[in-house]
Amino acid sequence: MSKNHAVQTPRAERWGSSLGVVLAVAGSAVGLGNFLRFPGQVVNHGGGAFMIPYVISLLIIALPISMTEWAMGRCGGRLGYHSPLGIYYAVSHKRTGWGICGGLAALAPFVINMYYIFVESWCLLYALQYLGGLLAPLGLSFSLFPHCEPGLYFTDASGYGEFFGSLVGISENGVLFRSFKSSPLILATLICAVANFALVYCGIAKGIERFCKIAAPLIILCSIIVIIRVVTLKNPTGAAGQSFLDGLGFMWNPTRDIIGENGEIIGRTNIWQALADPETWLAATAQIFFTVSICLGAISTYASYIKPKDDIALSSLTATSANEFCEVVIAGFMTIPPAIMFLGVQSASNLGSSFSLGFVVLPNVFGLMPFGQFFGFVFFSLLFLAAITSSMSLVQPTVALFQESFHWQRGSSVILAAFMNFIGSFIVCWYTQGLVALDVFDFWLANFTPIVFSIIQTSLIVFVWKLPALQAEIDSGARVRIPRLLGYVVKYVSFPYLVCIAVFWGVRNLGDRFNEIRSNHVAQLSLGFFVVLIVLLTLLSMIVMKRWEREEARHKAISGQTSQDQS
Ligand code: PFF
Repeated sequence: MSKNHAVQTPRAERWGSSLGVVLAVAGSAVGLGNFLRFPGQVVNHGGGAFMIPYVISLLIIALPISMTEWAMGRCGGRLGYHSPLGIYYAVSHKRTGWGICGGLAALAPFVINMYYIFVESWCLLYALQYLGGLLAPLGLSFSLFPHCEPGLYFTDASGYGEFFGSLVGISENGVLFRSFKSSPLILATLICAVANFALVYCGIAKGIERFCKIAAPLIILCSIIVIIRVVTLKNPTGAAGQSFLDGLGFMWNPTRDIIGENGEIIGRTNIWQALADPETWLAATAQIFFTVSICLGAISTYASYIKPKDDIALSSLTATSANEFCEVVIAGFMTIPPAIMFLGVQSASNLGSSFSLGFVVLPNVFGLMPFGQFFGFVFFSLLFLAAITSSMSLVQPTVALFQESFHWQRGSSVILAAFMNFIGSFIVCWYTQGLVALDVFDFWLANFTPIVFSIIQTSLIVFVWKLPALQAEIDSGARVRIPRLLGYVVKYVSFPYLVCIAVFWGVRNLGDRFNEIRSNHVAQLSLGFFVVLIVLLTLLSMIVMKRWEREEARHKAISGQTSQDQS
């Protein structure tokens, strides 16, 4: 493929270093999905039995597909394209239908960010509230909530649930907007959004990469502090089945004893039953998509800023492994074992939503452990930092799309993206009753879209771009040799597995969700919003591709004329 002149992004942006791109992609992957969603999924799906489909999905989906996504991203970048629209267009040899798919791929991360920053602001407020209590010895204590003492401590376990419910406005729509004094959440969401867009505005190397280089060591430091605390905890209640190892065993043993109300063993979980339940496989695969940030345009956009001859093979493996280390080892150590040590399997696994573990159960645990207020502060600061590095990758594909579409500078593109982001975040922040809007956004964007786009993206790679081109792209500049087998795994293992997952998933989930749309006006409003965005993006993609075609034809005519004149 020849270099494309049609796309005149203002200046070719690049990552400053190979380490920078790996940290940025790992930063995208390591986020709230690792520290909140993953432990919540493990607990909700029976502990160790969940880890089997999880590891299988990691091997046959995450590792190969993220590498193919890096490859298509770098290929697009070499041809002058950085948005998912441009990358799909380039890799599909300039086919409009695929280009439209690429345009729509930019939508998913962008809409995820609309609620992601809302959750990010919960972490910020929890961290600050803990800090308010920690500063007491210096006489600087403060509380962000009028009905709370500085710090986050309740004598009664139900206090943590009530605190969380009132923080996020779970009882009533619009309640967060009533007074900034009673709830600082809107202000916090605004601060997160501004920080997020300001960093993206600073650019690929000067904003995203620089911030990831600062955040990564801080995240590691915070993790080490919390992990040292957790592994040195003694069995706090002395009750059987509540040691640190019991907590780890819950996460890793595929079968375990079922404990009754009074602590007695009433049976044993059945691994085959858990594995025969498609729900476990669906949950594990969805978690893999979300945590590795694949099939949503984020990785390919980041990879498009790599220099054409820089390695992608080792970088992709490193970023995915770093994410898995943070998820399975760090988050796995920090969350599930302490919850089980302090509260027992019964109470710790009665979660309901995956937010409960992070925002209700763990604060309760921090309230019970020595120096818990300090560790609570460190834990939520870690979450906040990890969330920001992910947020930036959720926004960049749309910013790149606007840059390419309108030939705009980064600033104007960031402003338009921020404006659109505020509209979506407003819906999520207003309709907080039962967190319905957040749930609708999360279901359609973080569950449905990755499954659909995993099939679209993999089809594009294996059937249109084709395996030889994929292999050549991966091999170019590679610091490790990736066997040809990779392409065959993607084509004959990952792709059929994804199709099966999609079919199962559709049969299981779509019926209920369509019923919800009929009966729930928040779901209708949210979906209406998505439809408007889809229509706008489709039109934009078509117009932009027409322009690229015209510009290319004009360029060819000019170069033909020049060579005639010369001869
Ligand atoms: N991987 C991020 C997390 O675990 O929180 C979330 C995410 C970021 C998903 C970027 C998708 C994406 F494109």
